[in-house]
Amino acid sequence: MTPRKIIIDTDPGQDDAVALLLAFASPQELDVLGVTAVAGNVPLALTQKNARIVCELAGRKDVPVFAGCDRPMKHSLVTAEHVHGKTGLDGPQLADPVMPLQAQHAVDFIIETLRREAPGTVTLVPLGPLTNIAAAFTRAPDIVSNVQEIVLMGGAYFEVGNITPAAEFNIYVDPEAAEIVFKSGIPLVVAPLDVTHKVLTTAPHIAGFRAMGTQVGDMVAAWTDFFERFDKEKYGSEGAPLHDPCTIAYLLQPDLFSGRQINVEIETQSELTRGMTVADWWGVTDRAPNALFLGNVDAEGFFELLTTRLARL
Ligand code: RIB
Ligand code: CA
Repeated sequence: MTPRKIIIDTDPGQDDAVALLLAFASPQELDVLGVTAVAGNVPLALTQKNARIVCELAGRKDVPVFAGCDRPMKHSLVTAEHVHGKTGLDGPQLADPVMPLQAQHAVDFIIETLRREAPGTVTLVPLGPLTNIAAAFTRAPDIVSNVQEIVLMGGAYFEVGNITPAAEFNIYVDPEAAEIVFKSGIPLVVAPLDVTHKVLTTAPHIAGFRAMGTQVGDMVAAWTDFFERFDKEKYGSEGAPLHDPCTIAYLLQPDLFSGRQINVEIETQSELTRGMTVADWWGVTDRAPNALFLGNVDAEGFFELLTTRLARL
């Protein structure tokens, strides 16, 4: 089977890091053409550095890492150090990366790649605010029809917001970018908080990471140990929700997930509900479906996949 070509757009973030590791642990299924960093959890200078740290941790210095947009399309940048710590990868001590950052801008890489590869053969996997993706579509509308699919982490419906009462962080940071992506007409798979809050790294899972006896296992355990504080305090939940790895798990084993093909629109006008994903889950409008909005996940199957794959690194 030919591995699926993907570009991972990311704002590491401990959960982004686990998603990247899961992708790198699955070379038979996924061919990571490049990693594009965007400002989100922490500023761009840190997300591009963190992306390189994770590539090196996975032994993948061959994967090109690009820096993209350092702020959203319209609003000023909102970051999430309160969740991810000052570095964005708080938890373990990390050495600076050695591999170089690519000179090319991430948006130019996305455009160039989609123009070079055969139409319909590249999947975009955004794990942060959608600024880079929307900037590429705006600058080069011709590439939109070349995209095979977008599998993104973002939004919420039954779970409502995690950064405001109405909005999930990735969409909240850049709602204008999200609106461009959700209106692009590209096949869209959305992993909202509704599913990511169902894959919590409980103590046995973290112990399982540590039991691997590898640097990757130790790092993932330390990251999830740190990352869970926010959700434990806020939701009283048992463990950290592994938001971003849900996108990679979906690509590897889609039958772990279930959802509905529905219409999802983005609130961009109201300050009160900015970034809300207005998901027509109950089909009460005549708005055309534009996204597979995931609603449930086999959590044990997810962790089985994650743990066995990470043990490969
Ligand atoms: O709301 C969760 C999302 O925001 C995740 O992608 C996390 O990494 C942050 O970017
Ligand atoms: Ca992220």
